[in-house]
Amino acid sequence: MTTSFLRRAALAAALAGAISIPAPAADYTPSEENLKSRQEFADAGLGIFLHWGIYSMFGQGEWYLNSGVNAEEYAKAARGFYPAHFNAKEWVSAIKESGAKYICITSRHHDGFSMWGTKQSPYNIVDATPFGRDVLKELAEECERQGIRLHFYYSHLDWTRPDYPLGRTGHDTGRQLAPDWESYKNFMNGQLTELLTDYGKVGAIWFDGYWDHDEDPTPFDWQLDEQYALIHSLQPGCLVGNNHHVSVIPGEDIQIFERDVPGENKAGLSGQDVGSLPLETCQTMNGMWGYKIKDQDYKSTDDLVRYLVRTAGKGANLLLNIGPQPSGELPAAAIDRLKGIGKWMDSYGETIYATTGSPLEEEPEWGTVTVKRGDGRVFLHVLGEDFQSVKLPMGAKVKKAVDFISRKPVKFSGKPGDYTIHLDGVTAGPDRVVELTL
Ligand code: GLC
Repeated sequence: MTTSFLRRAALAAALAGAISIPAPAADYTPSEENLKSRQEFADAGLGIFLHWGIYSMFGQGEWYLNSGVNAEEYAKAARGFYPAHFNAKEWVSAIKESGAKYICITSRHHDGFSMWGTKQSPYNIVDATPFGRDVLKELAEECERQGIRLHFYYSHLDWTRPDYPLGRTGHDTGRQLAPDWESYKNFMNGQLTELLTDYGKVGAIWFDGYWDHDEDPTPFDWQLDEQYALIHSLQPGCLVGNNHHVSVIPGEDIQIFERDVPGENKAGLSGQDVGSLPLETCQTMNGMWGYKIKDQDYKSTDDLVRYLVRTAGKGANLLLNIGPQPSGELPAAAIDRLKGIGKWMDSYGETIYATTGSPLEEEPEWGTVTVKRGDGRVFLHVLGEDFQSVKLPMGAKVKKAVDFISRKPVKFSGKPGDYTIHLDGVTAGPDRVVELTL
């Protein structure tokens, strides 16, 4: 009763624009509950990302408004948004089938449209569309029912609101600019308070858009301290993550990488150092986050499995994205991938869930390694198909090697620091896994 009273009080305060925050995030010590959430997150291995909003209607990805489109014209799409086939139960079931342990959905993306019945602005799915349903609430209830965590993506930047202090994107949406940081900040904190008060237990708030001000001549103060503290005061177990592309900022509970596994920077968004918090890499199944009608270039299930394994080898979760269609359906190609990954996870999940990343100093050319948390079993993941044997520069003494699937012994030779593992007879697949006992 006290908690719900406190939450309601915080909500009221936020709505009044007068949030009183217990302690700044710089002095943040994660609660027991938060540490538990971190561990649960670190053990999760796989999550599914959902980018869904009125942008889906245009079939051109979630950045469509930024392509010279007028925000007022764009907003008219809301009047026709009626995703007749949206069914939270079907989504959650399809996602669970992949073996994913959490879902992260866009609550409000850069276009500024909110996917729940927020009281902070009428520009939301309940008040501005004929559909009128609170899809986040439906999802939250279904996730609770099916026992899977729900995370909310939340954009720091906004291409529609006049009070958002313009950054380097969203210049051509035709809005009258009236930057007012206090007003915008209170709007955001009011929204976050709603999400953390009325939507059950929230696994994480996943921020994005910080980089919109990374070219400002003087550093922009997002006042994250206050915002992160607000989140932790409302739900101490809620993880804070920020896709800001820079090093971890105090108050965060997880570290996010975009389109690259931690420590690699092929896409150019992940040059930050790898810290000690639980890690996550987000990646697309095709090339775009939001539904893009022209992009049917889906990675194969085998390639996605190999990416998941490589991510786990870096000690990170994979947050794999789907852009649901305007109808409310998940694309058939995505459902197919979910099933395929799930089938693989049924057999090999143990080598992904609750593991830590590779203990090897360098990533071997043949694949990667994961280590089971608790019992220390070592899993060699051979991702290249051509290898008949692999070199393992592991310092510890190998006592036993078996094929992870058949449990038949696998031959090995050499000595600590210089082993060769012979792969004859190891079960074929996108990833051949040998289990070592040290
Ligand atoms: C980028 C994009 C954004 C997307 C996000 C997902 O920040 O701007 O549209 O939601 O990546 O990682």
